[in-house]
Parts: sequence; structure tokens; C-alpha cells
Amino acid sequence: MPDVTLKNVPGMADAAAVPVLDAATLSEAVFQNDYVAQSRPCVIRGAVKHWPASKKWRDREYLKARSGHHEIFLYENEYHVQAKRMTAGKREINFAEAIDRLHSDATRLAIVTTALPTELLSDLGGFPFLTKAEPAYCYPPARYFFHRNAGTTWHYHPFDETLMCQVIGSKKIGLVSGNSPANLQLRRIFFAEDYYDNAAAFGALNDDSVRWFSATVEEGDALYIPPLWWHGVIPLSQGFGATAAVTWRSPPAVIANGIKKMALGEIDMIGKAVIEDFQGLLLTAQKLGLDREFAIAWARGN
Ligand SMILES: [Fe+2]
Repeated sequence: MPDVTLKNVPGMADAAAVPVLDAATLSEAVFQNDYVAQSRPCVIRGAVKHWPASKKWRDREYLKARSGHHEIFLYENEYHVQAKRMTAGKREINFAEAIDRLHSDATRLAIVTTALPTELLSDLGGFPFLTKAEPAYCYPPARYFFHRNAGTTWHYHPFDETLMCQVIGSKKIGLVSGNSPANLQLRRIFFAEDYYDNAAAFGALNDDSVRWFSATVEEGDALYIPPLWWHGVIPLSQGFGATAAVTWRSPPAVIANGIKKMALGEIDMIGKAVIEDFQGLLLTAQKLGLDREFAIAWARGN
């Protein structure tokens, strides 16, 4: 099982656990005020155990019958940030074939990341602690990670809030805030992605003030991932797994903080080409009085 995404990051050895909450007792006010408004990650145990997906997605024939027709990309490697690491294992096949390959013992590791099977949206449920949410700017309402012994290397989301919902299998996640003076060093190392093969790559990080965190999600749990938090993911369970990333719009103060930092060059507006609702994001920046900062952030981004 590949584990270098976390093992080769020295800070993970003494990472602090993110707070762990219980979906049955977590109020919407506490989630919003203590976590979302402050961009503090947390694990919410049992957040999605009531979803129909928790039962239905264990049946591969169900997934194939429902969504098998979509043409998608299966990657026979982990989900990397470096395009050159994603080309050799890239296969364009239909979703039904991908689901079969992800269940096959002959497949060592593979991952599909897609929002195309919109038929599966009805298998997701709500969250008792999140009843009011506006659509995200950069991401579809839900996207799926179907995987076999594969995770994702370190990256961050420039905007929007995310609940990483673990439907099948378990995972470990490393997290570190991009809201720190060390972020430019982190950016260089994580985006170069040399650490994936080279445990010494983090020798270049010269900042003891960086606070590393880790979280484990079991089936039925969700991890709240704020924007601008680097995260890397490894699988903990063997075989087929399924995760849904549910996204929504951040509070205005969080959006404003991101745009200001991007304008200052402290963090990058990444993923410009795939922003789902650019006009909405631009309008929000204007309402926040950050037209100029947004223009600078956009010009700096990629
Ligand atoms: Fe992510």
C-alpha cells in the first residue's frame, strides 16, 4: 500500500490530531463558528453513515448499471499534482470498466476522480450540522474518488469548503495550513513533488514553526478541509474504496482572506482554468471591495 505521501514528510511523525467530533451531537452553530469561520479542520465521526451510498456502492453491478456509460480517466497510479506523473498510467475507459478494474486483484493501485456520474448524487444524503450552504465557486457540488490502494499527493483548494466523505474503506490524511510564513517553502516542495520518491526532499524546509496535523477517516466519517490547507491522502484499507468530496461556498471573511493572500503572493490562485463559476467569484470579490486584489491574484495565479 503506498504510504510515501505521508511517510516522506518528516512533520507527519509528530503531527497533532485534528479535533474529532461526533455527527450525532455536533450543532450547526458550533461547526460554522468554531471550524468553518476559523478555517480549522476537523473529523466528524458518523457524518455520512446514513447515506444510501454506504450500502449501495458496495455493489459494483449497481454502480455499473447506474453510471457505467460515462467516459472517464482511470489512473493506474496515485493522484499526483505533477502532470508528468499522471501520463504513464492514464487510461480513458468507461466507468463500468473502471469499476471492474478497481475491484480486480490484478490491479495493483488505481484511482478515478470524476464528477460525471451525477446519477449517484441521489445516493448522497445531507448533514445535520450543515443545512444551509451556497454553491461552491471552483468545484461541482460533489465529485467522487473511486480508488484501489491509491491516494492523492499534497495539494490545496484555493477557494470553497470541503467535506471529504469516506463511504467505503479508510484513509489517513496529513494537513498543514497554507496560511503561514512557511507557505512559499511548502509550495516549492509540494508542487515539485520530489518528496514522493525522495525522503530527503523536505530537508529544504527550514521552519520549525510549521504545525502539522493528521486525521484518520473510517467508513461513515467525514473530514472537513478548509480552503488553503495543504492535504495529502493515503489509503489505509486494501482494495476498492470510495470517497465523495462535497463542497460549498466559504463565508465572506474566509473568501476575503484568500483573495488578499493571493494578491500579496503568499499563496497562489491555482486551478484558474477549471473554476466552475468564475463570474460568481468575481462578483463576490467586487462586493467585498477586493476588485483590485482579485485582479492581481488572478494575474499571479495559474
Ligand atoms: Fe483535496
